[in-house]
Amino acid sequence: MVTDKQREALIQAAITARQSAYAPYSNYNVGAAILMADGRIFTGVNVENASYGLTICAERTAVFKAVSEGCRDIQAVAVATENAGSPCGACRQVLAEFARDVPVWLVDATGHGRETTLYTLLPDHFGPEHLP
Ligand code: THU
Repeated sequence: MVTDKQREALIQAAITARQSAYAPYSNYNVGAAILMADGRIFTGVNVENASYGLTICAERTAVFKAVSEGCRDIQAVAVATENAGSPCGACRQVLAEFARDVPVWLVDATGHGRETTLYTLLPDHFGPEHLP
């Protein structure tokens, strides 16, 4: 259960993190924030590269930061972009490795946008439970 206060903090964290995005090629700055089971929030930004293909999305940056710090249980996600854009397929799959059908807030720089869930974004996904 995510409280209103946690939701607001998560969305604000994504908006603030977005200011650190490194996106000189696309100019599409993305900030992500994930709420973990222990209450901690990890943020991430997209980090582009002159070789283009090495770019990492904001959502995966946040997940890898959390897992690197020993946090694996994602309770909620917020993503801030200029137009409340939706996470790419690769990020949906990586989020699903460490989350169930958690709420996902997609917002613009002012915090306006929409709420969805991870399994709405990635139905019938392949997960760890499918591996013997
Ligand atoms: N991007 C993200 O950070 N997250 C997504 O889910 C979609 C795309 C980034 C990658 C690239 O730096 C820029 O947005 C344009 O694709």
